[in-house]
Amino acid sequence: MRKLISTLGVCLFAVSISLLNAASAAEPKNPMNAPDELAWQLFLQVNASVQPGTGGNALFETWASDHDTFQLQPQPWPVKTAPLALKVPALRAAARALSKGHAFQTVQVVPGATDDEPSEETRRNKEAYNYIVANKLFTVSGLKAAFGKTMNFPVDSLEVKANWYPVVSTKDPKKSGIPGYTGALADTAKVYHVSTASDGVQYALVAMHVISKQVPNWTWATFEHKNNPSRCDILGCKDPFGAAAAYVAPNPASGQGYADCKKTPALAALYAKAKIDPAFANYCLKGTQTDFTTATGQAVRLGNSVTENGFVNQSSCMTCHSRAAFDHMGKATTGGGFDRLTRLASIGPVEASWFAASTSGNPPYAPIVVGQSDLTQFATQADFVWSIPFCAVDDTVSPVPRSGCSGK
Ligand code: HEC
Repeated sequence: MRKLISTLGVCLFAVSISLLNAASAAEPKNPMNAPDELAWQLFLQVNASVQPGTGGNALFETWASDHDTFQLQPQPWPVKTAPLALKVPALRAAARALSKGHAFQTVQVVPGATDDEPSEETRRNKEAYNYIVANKLFTVSGLKAAFGKTMNFPVDSLEVKANWYPVVSTKDPKKSGIPGYTGALADTAKVYHVSTASDGVQYALVAMHVISKQVPNWTWATFEHKNNPSRCDILGCKDPFGAAAAYVAPNPASGQGYADCKKTPALAALYAKAKIDPAFANYCLKGTQTDFTTATGQAVRLGNSVTENGFVNQSSCMTCHSRAAFDHMGKATTGGGFDRLTRLASIGPVEASWFAASTSGNPPYAPIVVGQSDLTQFATQADFVWSIPFCAVDDTVSPVPRSGCSGK
């Protein structure tokens, strides 16, 4: 495993910019100074049509899913991947389990979603997949061996988490299963990017997280379909690059819907060059996150109305993902980033005490002094990639259960 410096903290100046070879994108901007522009370039890149002109699958749908990755023996790339690897959204399940007093939960895998609960999948590109496979981060014994090491994904790694709703209501075959869609059922694929899952059911894409390792602590962006009823609730929507209205304030009442995120000429120009399912024109950037706090120390929040539904007010992509960590037994040290004591998702700065304890009684105040002898590390950070501690196959028990993240 490559040992590189990945000290967590507020210091983010060691920015290395890798050039994406995105056919659709102009030269990417500095991710820290133009995160919204970069977010859109990534969106158009990961959603590029695999067979241009046909609508069809988006590039990310051909990447390795969590199901493909967290196997006892993952396949070599290119992975023969299932059409859609959907599972019940883990975060909401984690939040629910915690509220019942259980620290950890197992993801319940289902072939499809109901109208009330969208389905979820994670996909990663070759670079991210090969890193996990080469470093054996897909099993608990692999994590035990990686304990104490420093993880650092290759700069061209990309990961996507997507949420889908059934196109046709599971309760009424004449109705849409997508909250916020009022058009004709037959027109769904004009308005939403639609794909068929392994159970043969058609699903419409409603939400998408995209992260890239272009900076040490990754870039963080989340997109929503324009019709999502709670799109800008609680935190508002912020997109100075792509939306004509750079900031949309949240409605006082939730679930009321928002006006379309009319695109700026700059973004329209990127779309015009992209080889993409035309339905992707109906998606909005909700926002990006580049740091744990503002320069004045306030917690930065970003959450998707679908993916982080129920805790958007307490959602910081970066802080929660900094807690993607495992102990010397290869087990996650938190229930999906929810604090065991407060039962809340962590926001704001990363705390040294999440990873190390001091034997002398002095608390491990950040920043930890390098070489401080009384510190014991009890959690190894998984470079912000939550699926590693969350989905690793537990090969330390017999019989070996399937990964909690495996699809059908
Ligand atoms: C409270 C914790 C929490 C918050 C907040 C959160 N995530 Fe996650 N995220 C997780 C967990 C846990 C997983 C793995 C399980 C799963 O797929 O749900 C995950 C998975 C992901 C993945 C798949 C790759 C990976 O890390 O495994 C991406 C991409 C992602 N999240 C992006 C985001 C973005 C972007 C935001 C902010 C808009 C965000 N997350 C907010 C906990 C969180």
